[in-house]
Amino acid sequence: MYTQLEQREMDSPPVNVTALRRMKNEREPIACLTAYDASFAMLVDASGTDVILVGDSLGMVIQGHDTTVPVTVDDVIYHSRHVARRLRRAFLMADMPFMSYTAPDQALQNAVRLMQEGGAMMVKLEGGAGQVEIVRHLARHDIPVCAHLGLKPQSVHKIGGFRVQGREQTVAQRMLDDARSLQEAGADIVLLECVPNEVGARITAELEVPVIGIGAGPEVDGQILVLYDILEITQGRKPRFVRDFMTGAGSPRAAIEAYVHAVKQREYPAPEHCFS
Ligand code: KIV
Repeated sequence: MYTQLEQREMDSPPVNVTALRRMKNEREPIACLTAYDASFAMLVDASGTDVILVGDSLGMVIQGHDTTVPVTVDDVIYHSRHVARRLRRAFLMADMPFMSYTAPDQALQNAVRLMQEGGAMMVKLEGGAGQVEIVRHLARHDIPVCAHLGLKPQSVHKIGGFRVQGREQTVAQRMLDDARSLQEAGADIVLLECVPNEVGARITAELEVPVIGIGAGPEVDGQILVLYDILEITQGRKPRFVRDFMTGAGSPRAAIEAYVHAVKQREYPAPEHCFS
C-alpha cells in the first residue's frame, strides 16, 4: 500500500524534499535541468538528474516567444503532464506562470492544478518580500514551494532586460533578507538566477533549505540550466552561464550525462560561467 516505503529500499529511490535537504547538508551538489516533453524527460531522468523543472522558459524554447510572459497555467500543465509520465527518480517542479499567483487563493488554486493535473511535486514562483504571504499560504496547505530570486524573467519588462542582479550592496542585502523571509514562510528551495558568486555563496551559507543557482556561482547547493541551451538547440547569443555539453558528446543522452557529471564533480560552473 505504501509504495514510498518500498521505494526507500531501492538503489536509487525517488528524490524528495528530504533527500534534497540531505544533499545540502552532505554537500552533494544537486543537478537540475528543465524538460518539457516525455522523450527528453526520460533521458534527463535516466541520466541521474535530481530535479526536473517544467519551466516557463517553455514560452521561449518551445513556443518561440521572446519572454516567459505569455505562458499560461494550461501551457505548463500540458507539458508537465507529459514529463511526469516518464519520471522514475527525479523530483518534478513546475513553474507558476506570470500573474498566476497574485493573491493567496488564486495561487493555491493554480498550484493545486499544477500538482493534480500536471503531476508536479513542487511549484516555483518568482518573488521577494511581496510573495511571502503567498508562500505561507501554499506551505500551510502542504504545497512544496521553490522561491525564485535574483533575475526574475517574468519581471523583464519592469526591470528593463535580462541582467545580473545584486551587484549593489543594498540589493544583495535585500535579496538575502527576502530569501530568509521566504524560507521562514515555508519555501523548501530557493533558486537564484544571475547573481554574483559572492551573493550566491552568502545566501547559500545563511539558509537551511537548498539553494539552486543558474548563473549564481559554484558555492550554491545545486545548478540548473535550460535543457535546450546545454544541447546547443538554442541559437543566437547565450547567457554567460550556459555551457555547451553537446559538441563532442555524440548523443543528447551523453551530453546530459556529462552535464550531471560536471555538476556533481563541481567542474561546472567554471569561472567563465560566473558573475562577479
Ligand atoms: O523557466 C525556467 O526554465 C527557469 C530556469 C531558467 C531556472 O526558471
